[in-house]
Amino acid sequence: MKKYFQIALKEALKYKGRTLPNPAVGAVITKLENGKEIFICKEAHKKAGEKHAEVLAIEKAKKILNIPKKEPLGKYGNFRIYVTLEPCSTYGKTPPCALKISKEKIKEVYFLIWDVNPKNRKGSISIFEKENIKYFCYEEYVKNKKDKLLLEAYKLIDDFIVINKFNKPFFILKAALTLDGYIAKKDFSSKWITSLESRKLVHKLRKTVNAILIGKNTLIYDNPKLTIRHVKTDYQPKALIMINSLKNLDNFEKYYLFRERKKETTILTQNKEIEKIFLDQNIDVIFYKNKNELYQKLFEKQIYSILVEGGSKIFSYFLKEGIIDKVFLFYAPKLFGSGIKFLEGITLNEKLKYVNYKKIKEDFLVEGYLKEIFEVEK
Ligand SMILES: NC(=O)c1ccc[n+]([C@@H]2O[C@H](COP(=O)([O-])OP(=O)(O)OC[C@H]3O[C@@H](n4cnc5c(N)ncnc54)[C@H](OP(=O)(O)O)[C@@H]3O)[C@@H](O)[C@H]2O)c1
Repeated sequence: MKKYFQIALKEALKYKGRTLPNPAVGAVITKLENGKEIFICKEAHKKAGEKHAEVLAIEKAKKILNIPKKEPLGKYGNFRIYVTLEPCSTYGKTPPCALKISKEKIKEVYFLIWDVNPKNRKGSISIFEKENIKYFCYEEYVKNKKDKLLLEAYKLIDDFIVINKFNKPFFILKAALTLDGYIAKKDFSSKWITSLESRKLVHKLRKTVNAILIGKNTLIYDNPKLTIRHVKTDYQPKALIMINSLKNLDNFEKYYLFRERKKETTILTQNKEIEKIFLDQNIDVIFYKNKNELYQKLFEKQIYSILVEGGSKIFSYFLKEGIIDKVFLFYAPKLFGSGIKFLEGITLNEKLKYVNYKKIKEDFLVEGYLKEIFEVEK
Protein backbone atom coordinates (compact mmCIF):
# COMPACT_ATOMS: atom_id res chain seq x y z
CA MET A 1 0.00 0.00 0.00
CA LYS A 2 2.73 2.48 1.01
CA LYS A 3 4.54 1.87 -2.28
CA TYR A 4 1.53 3.01 -4.32
CA PHE A 5 0.93 6.03 -2.10
CA GLN A 6 4.56 7.02 -2.65
CA ILE A 7 4.17 6.75 -6.44
CA ALA A 8 1.03 8.92 -6.27
CA LEU A 9 2.79 11.53 -4.11
CA LYS A 10 5.75 11.71 -6.47
CA GLU A 11 3.49 12.14 -9.49
CA ALA A 12 1.48 14.91 -7.79
CA LEU A 13 4.63 16.75 -6.74
CA LYS A 14 5.55 17.27 -10.42
CA TYR A 15 2.61 19.66 -10.71
CA LYS A 16 2.78 21.37 -7.32
CA GLY A 17 2.03 25.06 -7.79
CA ARG A 18 0.49 24.56 -11.23
CA THR A 19 -2.84 23.36 -9.80
CA LEU A 20 -3.47 26.29 -7.45
CA PRO A 21 -5.95 27.35 -6.15
CA ASN A 22 -6.68 23.61 -6.34
CA PRO A 23 -4.52 21.17 -4.38
CA ALA A 24 -1.86 19.02 -6.04
CA VAL A 25 -3.25 15.46 -6.11
CA GLY A 26 -1.85 12.18 -7.40
CA ALA A 27 -3.57 8.85 -8.07
CA VAL A 28 -2.56 5.27 -8.84
CA ILE A 29 -4.73 2.43 -10.14
CA THR A 30 -3.94 -1.21 -9.45
CA LYS A 31 -5.70 -4.46 -10.39
CA LEU A 32 -6.15 -7.35 -8.01
CA GLU A 33 -5.67 -10.65 -9.82
CA ASN A 34 -5.02 -14.15 -8.42
CA GLY A 35 -4.07 -12.72 -5.02
CA LYS A 36 -1.60 -10.31 -6.61
CA GLU A 37 -1.77 -6.54 -6.92
CA ILE A 38 -0.69 -5.29 -10.36
CA PHE A 39 0.24 -1.65 -11.02
CA ILE A 40 -1.77 -0.24 -13.94
CA CYS A 41 -1.07 3.50 -14.05
CA LYS A 42 -0.38 6.77 -12.24
CA GLU A 43 -1.78 10.25 -12.87
CA ALA A 44 -1.93 13.73 -11.33
CA HIS A 45 -4.12 16.81 -11.39
CA LYS A 46 -2.26 19.24 -13.64
CA LYS A 47 -4.10 22.54 -13.68
CA ALA A 48 -7.07 24.17 -11.92
CA GLY A 49 -10.25 23.71 -13.95
CA GLU A 50 -8.90 20.62 -15.68
CA LYS A 51 -9.64 16.96 -14.90
CA HIS A 52 -8.78 15.65 -11.43
CA ALA A 53 -6.15 12.95 -10.82
CA GLU A 54 -8.73 10.19 -10.20
CA VAL A 55 -10.56 10.86 -13.49
CA LEU A 56 -7.32 11.00 -15.48
CA ALA A 57 -6.11 7.76 -13.87
CA ILE A 58 -9.38 5.95 -14.68
CA GLU A 59 -9.25 7.17 -18.29
CA LYS A 60 -5.61 6.11 -18.59
CA ALA A 61 -6.32 2.66 -17.11
CA LYS A 62 -9.10 2.07 -19.66
CA LYS A 63 -6.80 3.10 -22.48
CA ILE A 64 -4.00 0.81 -21.29
CA LEU A 65 -6.39 -2.12 -20.86
CA ASN A 66 -8.36 -1.45 -24.08
CA ILE A 67 -11.62 -0.93 -22.20
CA PRO A 68 -14.29 1.11 -24.05
CA LYS A 69 -14.60 4.63 -22.57
CA LYS A 70 -18.31 4.21 -21.76
CA GLU A 71 -17.95 0.92 -19.91
CA PRO A 72 -17.30 0.99 -16.16
CA LEU A 73 -13.76 -0.05 -15.27
CA GLY A 74 -15.07 -2.41 -12.56
CA LYS A 75 -16.79 -4.58 -15.18
CA TYR A 76 -13.32 -5.74 -16.25
CA GLY A 77 -11.87 -6.82 -12.93
CA ASN A 78 -11.20 -5.93 -9.37
CA PHE A 79 -9.57 -2.49 -9.27
CA ARG A 80 -8.19 -0.38 -6.46
CA ILE A 81 -7.49 3.36 -6.59
CA TYR A 82 -4.93 5.13 -4.39
CA VAL A 83 -5.24 8.90 -3.98
CA THR A 84 -3.08 11.35 -2.01
CA LEU A 85 -6.19 13.23 -0.81
CA GLU A 86 -9.80 12.24 -0.09
CA PRO A 87 -11.66 12.20 -3.44
CA CYS A 88 -13.81 15.31 -3.75
CA SER A 89 -17.52 14.95 -3.04
CA THR A 90 -18.92 18.27 -4.25
CA TYR A 91 -19.61 19.76 -7.66
CA GLY A 92 -17.00 22.33 -8.69
CA LYS A 93 -15.71 22.98 -12.18
CA THR A 94 -15.82 19.19 -12.59
CA PRO A 95 -18.22 16.56 -11.11
CA PRO A 96 -17.24 14.91 -7.78
CA CYS A 97 -14.50 12.28 -8.07
CA ALA A 98 -16.11 10.12 -5.37
CA LEU A 99 -19.13 9.77 -7.67
CA LYS A 100 -16.92 8.98 -10.67
CA ILE A 101 -15.22 6.20 -8.67
CA SER A 102 -18.57 4.75 -7.68
CA LYS A 103 -19.93 4.95 -11.27
CA GLU A 104 -16.81 3.16 -12.49
CA LYS A 105 -17.56 0.37 -10.00
CA ILE A 106 -14.09 0.47 -8.46
CA LYS A 107 -14.19 -1.78 -5.40
CA GLU A 108 -11.59 -0.18 -3.12
CA VAL A 109 -10.44 3.39 -2.50
CA TYR A 110 -7.32 4.19 -0.47
CA PHE A 111 -6.42 7.78 0.35
CA LEU A 112 -3.79 9.36 2.58
CA ILE A 113 -5.66 12.24 4.24
CA TRP A 114 -9.17 13.59 4.60
CA ASP A 115 -10.18 16.72 2.72
CA VAL A 116 -8.69 19.64 4.68
CA ASN A 117 -11.74 21.84 4.15
CA PRO A 118 -13.97 21.19 7.20
CA LYS A 119 -17.07 21.64 5.01
CA ASN A 120 -16.09 18.80 2.66
CA ARG A 121 -14.17 16.62 5.11
CA LYS A 122 -15.41 13.02 5.03
CA GLY A 123 -17.97 14.03 2.41
CA SER A 124 -17.05 11.06 0.23
CA ILE A 125 -18.09 8.51 2.87
CA SER A 126 -21.83 8.60 2.11
CA ILE A 127 -21.12 8.10 -1.62
CA PHE A 128 -18.80 5.15 -0.97
CA GLU A 129 -21.07 3.53 1.63
CA LYS A 130 -24.11 3.78 -0.63
CA GLU A 131 -22.33 1.73 -3.29
CA ASN A 132 -20.59 -0.65 -0.89
CA ILE A 133 -17.14 0.62 -1.84
CA LYS A 134 -14.42 -0.21 0.65
CA TYR A 135 -12.59 2.96 1.70
CA PHE A 136 -9.44 3.36 3.74
CA CYS A 137 -8.03 6.67 4.98
CA TYR A 138 -4.39 6.28 6.07
CA GLU A 139 -4.65 9.30 8.38
CA GLU A 140 -7.22 7.46 10.53
CA TYR A 141 -4.79 4.66 11.27
CA VAL A 142 -1.61 6.54 12.13
CA LYS A 143 -1.61 8.03 15.57
CA ASN A 144 1.80 9.67 15.18
CA LYS A 145 1.37 13.04 13.49
CA LYS A 146 5.06 12.92 12.51
CA ASP A 147 4.52 9.81 10.36
CA LYS A 148 6.60 10.34 7.20
CA LEU A 149 3.95 9.43 4.65
CA LEU A 150 1.31 11.47 6.44
CA LEU A 151 3.59 14.50 6.59
CA GLU A 152 4.43 14.15 2.91
CA ALA A 153 0.72 14.16 2.08
CA TYR A 154 0.23 17.37 4.07
CA LYS A 155 3.39 19.01 2.73
CA LEU A 156 2.23 18.33 -0.81
CA ILE A 157 -0.74 20.62 -0.22
CA ASP A 158 0.78 23.11 2.28
CA ASP A 159 0.14 25.95 -0.20
CA PHE A 160 -3.51 24.93 -0.65
CA ILE A 161 -3.99 24.67 3.13
CA VAL A 162 -2.59 28.17 3.78
CA ILE A 163 -4.64 29.76 0.98
CA ASN A 164 -7.86 28.30 2.39
CA LYS A 165 -7.13 28.56 6.09
CA PHE A 166 -5.76 32.12 6.14
CA ASN A 167 -7.11 33.60 2.89
CA LYS A 168 -3.60 34.64 1.86
CA PRO A 169 -1.05 33.44 -0.70
CA PHE A 170 1.51 30.87 0.50
CA PHE A 171 4.85 32.55 1.19
CA ILE A 172 8.16 30.66 1.39
CA LEU A 173 11.33 32.43 2.49
CA LYS A 174 14.54 31.13 0.96
CA ALA A 175 17.96 32.43 1.98
CA ALA A 176 21.59 31.41 1.50
CA LEU A 177 23.57 32.19 4.65
CA THR A 178 27.03 31.94 6.12
CA LEU A 179 27.35 30.23 9.49
CA ASP A 180 27.60 33.64 11.14
CA GLY A 181 24.32 34.74 9.60
CA TYR A 182 25.33 36.91 6.64
CA ILE A 183 23.61 36.86 3.26
CA ALA A 184 26.11 39.10 1.44
CA LYS A 185 29.55 40.64 1.85
CA LYS A 186 30.12 44.23 2.93
CA ASP A 187 30.26 45.31 -0.73
CA PHE A 188 26.79 43.70 -1.22
CA SER A 189 28.14 40.82 -3.33
CA SER A 190 26.37 37.57 -2.51
CA LYS A 191 26.80 35.33 -5.54
CA TRP A 192 27.44 31.68 -4.86
CA ILE A 193 27.40 31.63 -1.07
CA THR A 194 26.15 28.04 -1.35
CA SER A 195 27.12 25.12 -3.60
CA LEU A 196 25.76 24.33 -7.06
CA GLU A 197 23.79 21.41 -5.54
CA SER A 198 21.98 23.79 -3.16
CA ARG A 199 21.24 26.13 -6.03
CA LYS A 200 19.79 23.21 -8.02
CA LEU A 201 17.46 22.50 -5.13
CA VAL A 202 16.40 26.17 -5.13
CA HIS A 203 15.55 25.87 -8.81
CA LYS A 204 13.40 22.81 -8.00
CA LEU A 205 11.68 24.91 -5.36
CA ARG A 206 11.13 27.71 -7.89
CA LYS A 207 9.19 25.19 -9.99
CA THR A 208 6.60 24.81 -7.22
CA VAL A 209 5.66 28.50 -6.92
CA ASN A 210 3.74 31.01 -9.01
CA ALA A 211 6.19 33.89 -8.43
CA ILE A 212 9.56 34.89 -6.97
CA LEU A 213 9.81 38.10 -4.96
CA ILE A 214 12.83 40.36 -4.31
CA GLY A 215 13.50 43.84 -2.92
CA LYS A 216 14.81 46.81 -4.86
CA ASN A 217 18.40 46.51 -3.59
CA THR A 218 18.63 42.87 -4.64
CA LEU A 219 17.55 43.95 -8.11
CA ILE A 220 20.27 46.61 -8.10
CA TYR A 221 23.13 44.54 -6.66
CA ASP A 222 22.39 41.11 -8.14
CA ASN A 223 20.51 41.98 -11.36
CA PRO A 224 18.89 38.49 -11.16
CA LYS A 225 17.01 36.56 -13.84
CA LEU A 226 14.76 34.75 -11.32
CA THR A 227 14.29 31.89 -13.79
CA ILE A 228 14.52 28.12 -13.47
CA ARG A 229 17.74 27.07 -15.18
CA HIS A 230 19.45 24.25 -13.31
CA VAL A 231 16.59 21.77 -13.69
CA LYS A 232 14.47 20.73 -16.69
CA THR A 233 11.33 22.85 -17.04
CA ASP A 234 8.75 24.13 -19.46
CA TYR A 235 7.55 26.63 -16.87
CA GLN A 236 8.92 29.92 -15.49
CA PRO A 237 7.54 31.72 -12.42
CA LYS A 238 6.63 35.41 -12.51
CA ALA A 239 8.93 38.01 -10.94
CA LEU A 240 7.80 40.45 -8.26
CA ILE A 241 9.94 43.43 -7.17
CA MET A 242 9.15 45.60 -4.13
CA ILE A 243 9.99 49.22 -4.89
CA ASN A 244 8.87 52.33 -3.03
CA SER A 245 11.38 54.88 -4.36
CA LEU A 246 13.63 55.35 -7.38
CA LYS A 247 16.71 56.08 -5.24
CA ASN A 248 19.79 54.44 -6.87
CA LEU A 249 17.58 53.03 -9.60
CA ASP A 250 18.48 54.48 -12.96
CA ASN A 251 18.33 53.24 -16.54
CA PHE A 252 15.79 50.41 -16.29
CA GLU A 253 17.30 48.73 -19.37
CA LYS A 254 20.32 47.79 -17.26
CA TYR A 255 18.24 45.22 -15.42
CA TYR A 256 17.58 41.80 -16.90
CA LEU A 257 14.02 41.63 -15.53
CA PHE A 258 13.02 44.94 -17.16
CA ARG A 259 14.84 44.15 -20.38
CA GLU A 260 14.24 40.43 -20.98
CA ARG A 261 11.29 39.53 -18.74
CA LYS A 262 9.25 42.71 -18.82
CA LYS A 263 5.93 40.92 -19.44
CA GLU A 264 6.46 38.52 -16.54
CA THR A 265 7.54 41.18 -14.03
CA THR A 266 5.29 43.05 -11.59
CA ILE A 267 6.28 45.92 -9.29
CA LEU A 268 4.75 45.93 -5.80
CA THR A 269 4.56 49.44 -4.40
CA GLN A 270 2.85 51.60 -1.83
CA ASN A 271 3.83 54.76 -3.67
CA LYS A 272 1.39 56.20 -6.27
CA GLU A 273 4.20 58.02 -8.12
CA ILE A 274 6.16 54.78 -8.52
CA GLU A 275 3.01 53.12 -9.82
CA LYS A 276 2.69 55.76 -12.54
CA ILE A 277 6.38 55.63 -13.54
CA PHE A 278 6.33 51.87 -14.11
CA LEU A 279 2.93 51.82 -15.80
CA ASP A 280 4.32 54.45 -18.22
CA GLN A 281 7.13 51.99 -18.98
CA ASN A 282 4.52 49.27 -19.70
CA ILE A 283 5.56 47.35 -16.61
CA ASP A 284 2.81 45.78 -14.54
CA VAL A 285 2.26 47.23 -11.03
CA ILE A 286 0.35 46.26 -7.91
CA PHE A 287 -0.35 49.28 -5.72
CA TYR A 288 -1.28 48.21 -2.19
CA LYS A 289 -2.06 50.02 1.06
CA ASN A 290 -1.66 47.08 3.44
CA LYS A 291 -0.80 43.39 3.38
CA ASN A 292 -4.42 42.24 3.10
CA GLU A 293 -4.91 44.37 0.01
CA LEU A 294 -1.66 42.95 -1.38
CA TYR A 295 -2.91 39.38 -0.82
CA GLN A 296 -6.18 40.04 -2.64
CA LYS A 297 -4.44 41.76 -5.56
CA LEU A 298 -2.00 38.86 -5.89
CA PHE A 299 -4.97 36.44 -5.95
CA GLU A 300 -6.55 38.54 -8.71
CA LYS A 301 -3.41 37.95 -10.77
CA GLN A 302 -3.62 34.22 -9.97
CA ILE A 303 -0.48 34.38 -7.86
CA TYR A 304 -1.15 31.94 -5.02
CA SER A 305 2.35 30.95 -3.96
CA ILE A 306 5.48 33.10 -3.69
CA LEU A 307 9.13 32.41 -3.01
CA VAL A 308 10.66 35.35 -1.15
CA GLU A 309 14.34 35.47 -2.14
CA GLY A 310 15.60 38.56 -0.32
CA GLY A 311 17.40 40.62 0.59
CA SER A 312 17.74 41.45 4.25
CA LYS A 313 15.19 44.26 4.45
CA ILE A 314 12.61 42.20 2.61
CA PHE A 315 13.23 39.11 4.80
CA SER A 316 12.94 41.27 7.93
CA TYR A 317 9.75 42.98 6.76
CA PHE A 318 8.01 39.73 5.78
CA LEU A 319 8.96 37.93 9.00
CA LYS A 320 8.03 40.89 11.21
CA GLU A 321 4.63 41.10 9.52
CA GLY A 322 4.00 37.35 9.97
CA ILE A 323 3.59 36.86 6.22
CA ILE A 324 6.02 33.93 5.86
CA ASP A 325 4.58 30.41 6.15
CA LYS A 326 7.65 28.29 5.45
CA VAL A 327 11.43 28.77 5.35
CA PHE A 328 14.30 27.16 3.47
CA LEU A 329 17.60 28.26 5.01
CA PHE A 330 20.73 27.07 3.20
CA TYR A 331 23.81 27.33 5.43
CA ALA A 332 27.24 27.32 3.74
CA PRO A 333 30.35 26.46 5.81
CA LYS A 334 31.60 30.05 5.56
CA LEU A 335 32.19 32.97 7.87
CA PHE A 336 32.10 36.60 6.69
CA GLY A 337 32.53 38.38 10.03
CA SER A 338 30.75 41.42 8.64
CA GLY A 339 28.38 42.20 5.79
CA ILE A 340 24.62 42.16 5.17
CA LYS A 341 22.86 40.33 7.96
CA PHE A 342 20.06 37.85 7.27
CA LEU A 343 17.74 39.86 9.53
CA GLU A 344 18.09 43.41 10.80
CA GLY A 345 16.15 45.63 13.21
CA ILE A 346 13.42 43.20 14.21
CA THR A 347 12.60 41.09 17.26
CA LEU A 348 11.08 37.67 16.76
CA ASN A 349 10.12 34.72 18.89
CA GLU A 350 9.70 31.97 16.32
CA LYS A 351 10.40 28.25 16.52
CA LEU A 352 10.16 26.21 13.35
CA LYS A 353 7.61 23.40 13.17
CA TYR A 354 7.97 20.12 11.27
CA VAL A 355 11.67 20.87 10.86
CA ASN A 356 13.72 18.92 8.36
CA TYR A 357 17.54 18.97 8.14
CA LYS A 358 19.35 17.96 4.99
CA LYS A 359 23.01 17.89 4.07
CA ILE A 360 23.67 19.07 0.52
CA LYS A 361 27.34 18.73 -0.47
CA GLU A 362 29.15 20.98 2.00
CA ASP A 363 25.98 22.96 2.88
CA PHE A 364 23.08 22.08 5.12
CA LEU A 365 19.48 22.98 4.71
CA VAL A 366 17.05 23.76 7.51
CA GLU A 367 13.46 23.57 6.34
CA GLY A 368 10.39 24.24 8.45
CA TYR A 369 7.06 25.95 8.92
CA LEU A 370 6.28 29.06 10.93
CA LYS A 371 2.62 28.24 11.34
CA GLU A 372 0.84 25.16 12.65
CA ILE A 373 -0.80 24.62 9.30
CA PHE A 374 -1.31 20.87 9.54
CA GLU A 375 -3.62 21.04 12.52
CA VAL A 376 -6.80 19.97 10.80
CA GLU A 377 -10.15 20.45 12.45
CA LYS A 378 -11.80 17.15 13.16
N1 LIG B 1 22.19 35.27 0.29
C1 LIG B 1 20.93 35.47 -0.03
O1 LIG B 1 20.08 34.58 0.14
C2 LIG B 1 20.52 36.78 -0.65
C3 LIG B 1 19.30 36.85 -1.33
C4 LIG B 1 18.92 38.07 -1.87
C5 LIG B 1 19.73 39.18 -1.72
N2 LIG B 1 20.91 39.09 -1.07
C6 LIG B 1 21.76 40.25 -0.90
O2 LIG B 1 21.05 41.17 -0.07
C7 LIG B 1 21.52 42.49 -0.36
C8 LIG B 1 20.34 43.41 -0.49
O3 LIG B 1 19.60 43.41 0.71
P1 LIG B 1 18.99 44.74 1.30
O4 LIG B 1 18.44 44.46 2.62
O5 LIG B 1 19.99 45.82 1.14
O6 LIG B 1 17.83 45.09 0.24
P2 LIG B 1 16.52 44.34 -0.27
O7 LIG B 1 15.84 43.69 0.85
O8 LIG B 1 16.85 43.57 -1.48
O9 LIG B 1 15.68 45.61 -0.78
C9 LIG B 1 15.24 46.55 0.17
C10 LIG B 1 14.62 47.73 -0.50
O10 LIG B 1 13.38 47.37 -1.11
C11 LIG B 1 12.49 48.47 -1.03
N3 LIG B 1 11.22 48.03 -0.43
C12 LIG B 1 9.98 48.18 -0.99
N4 LIG B 1 9.05 47.72 -0.19
C13 LIG B 1 9.67 47.26 0.93
C14 LIG B 1 9.18 46.69 2.13
N5 LIG B 1 7.89 46.45 2.35
N6 LIG B 1 10.09 46.35 3.07
C15 LIG B 1 11.41 46.55 2.87
N7 LIG B 1 11.91 47.12 1.75
C16 LIG B 1 11.04 47.47 0.78
C17 LIG B 1 13.16 49.54 -0.20
O11 LIG B 1 13.72 50.50 -1.08
P3 LIG B 1 12.88 51.79 -1.55
O12 LIG B 1 12.04 52.22 -0.40
O13 LIG B 1 13.93 52.79 -1.89
O14 LIG B 1 12.12 51.37 -2.73
C18 LIG B 1 14.28 48.81 0.50
O15 LIG B 1 15.37 49.60 0.77
C19 LIG B 1 22.34 42.39 -1.63
O16 LIG B 1 23.69 42.43 -1.31
C20 LIG B 1 22.01 41.02 -2.17
O17 LIG B 1 23.09 40.48 -2.89
C21 LIG B 1 21.32 37.90 -0.54
